[in-house]
Amino acid sequence: MDVIRHVIDGEETESSSGARFDTIDPWTQQPWAQVALGGADEVDRAVTAARRAFDDGPWPCMGFAERGAILHGLADLIIENADELALADTTDMGKPLSDSRGNDVPRSAQNFRFFADHARLSTGDILPMDTGHHAYTRFEPAGVVAAIAPWNFPLMLETWKIAPALAWGNTVVLKPAEDTPASATILAQLAVRAGMPPGVLNVVHGYGPGSVGAALTADNRVNRITFTGESGTGKVIAAAGAAHLTPVSLELGGKGANLVFADADLDTAVNWSIRAVFSNAGQVCLAGSRLFVQREVYHAFLAKFVAAAESLTLGDPKLTGTQIGPLASEAHWKKVRSYVDEIGAEGGTMRTGGLGDGWAIRPTVVTDLPPEARLCREEIFGPVVVVAPFDSEADAITAANDTPYGLNAMLFTENLSRAHRVAAALKAGTVWVNCFFIRDLRAPFGGVGDSGIGREGGTFSREFFTEPKAVVMAIHDADP
Ligand code: NAI
Ligand code: MG
Repeated sequence: MDVIRHVIDGEETESSSGARFDTIDPWTQQPWAQVALGGADEVDRAVTAARRAFDDGPWPCMGFAERGAILHGLADLIIENADELALADTTDMGKPLSDSRGNDVPRSAQNFRFFADHARLSTGDILPMDTGHHAYTRFEPAGVVAAIAPWNFPLMLETWKIAPALAWGNTVVLKPAEDTPASATILAQLAVRAGMPPGVLNVVHGYGPGSVGAALTADNRVNRITFTGESGTGKVIAAAGAAHLTPVSLELGGKGANLVFADADLDTAVNWSIRAVFSNAGQVCLAGSRLFVQREVYHAFLAKFVAAAESLTLGDPKLTGTQIGPLASEAHWKKVRSYVDEIGAEGGTMRTGGLGDGWAIRPTVVTDLPPEARLCREEIFGPVVVVAPFDSEADAITAANDTPYGLNAMLFTENLSRAHRVAAALKAGTVWVNCFFIRDLRAPFGGVGDSGIGREGGTFSREFFTEPKAVVMAIHDADP
């Protein structure tokens, strides 16, 4: 069986205790590799290495072009090794290989290319003052970044954190999710091959509470904590950061509202709405998991939507043509199943869906639930969507905003004014109009309410991963 090790100070290493845990392939439900189980010792070694690489190392002092060349080299190696990386994520968490190979891996390479170029081309402000001074901004690297990643887009979300951190001259300790360790170790090996100095990118495997996650967020040598995952975990991590006044960036859960107006192009709305909640088996923080449809088209939309949901192909994530694989782990499958099991008791009607083979859940469409039902309020993180009709635009906005979350929302309409009006009224970090998932890496990404704190992307990542500095200079009138 394969062994997946930590990468600390440029070297692959086991834990000092020798401890390991299994990583499970959720399709076969069997362990497929063993993983070094880190603890306080490995966090100490990794943070020490990252600290040294930052404080004494060349990385923060390199020019943007030199650092950028290494990051572009890493992007090239990601593409060269795309098959291996994609297979690692698919084996670890069951997403279709066509998704990991066609989406996650290319986007991971693009994260490095984009942030390398963005940092190099970035400009600050020059502020001429009436007092005979001028001020300008500098963006100093923050230091050591702790990145704690989830399992739903393992490599893609890890690189979304690592790439801007590194591009701005920081060093990183990454803790991948325990369910998806494999691609992170490959990434760190590729970084060494790309010429990244030792200690700049470290990977430590382990669990969250009482383990690597807790030790890393408690370490006062860490200057930034960036986390993606559950809202409850985000609160624990925010508290750990607060103990040392370490800034945190939290991208947390969601319960995205999807509004389909009667004037929408229904086929466009159906296509995107299907992708919005069933891609990656619904294990997407951005999932459009609350679908509201204007009453005039409710039945017509629902018929097309259910038919499209039933046409999706479930199965072995490694087979061509599979669109939905199993859920990522047994624990997660049990969580999603608990929601499916209570549809009837909550008064809901399952239009299609239910349990699949093994740890799979079929695309599940539920109607007739009261808005206070757990299925309508909590993040399910599976292929389960609740659908309800609405009458007016105002009703749609009220329903969409009736959630503790606010990561994203989407709306479908051919009415230009309505599109802008509703987009402005929705309480969310991102609003998509007549589309979904489309990203510009310069745009702010993050959520309001229980969906998190802060934004990443473009200059927003720069704000978080640097210490912006004002330099104020006096300009003398003449030589003294
Ligand atoms: P989680 O938030 O507990 O785990 C995410 C990462 O945080 C993992 O690397 C984990 O080891 C780490 N972690 C957990 N507790 C920690 C702590 N106290 N200190 C430091 N690190 C810690 O998410 P989990 O348990 O894997 O999934 C539970 C639910 O969270 C899912 O069912 C889903 O609803 C939600 N979730 C949301 C994600 C999103 O993208 N918004 C991603 C993953 C999960
Ligand atoms: Mg957890």
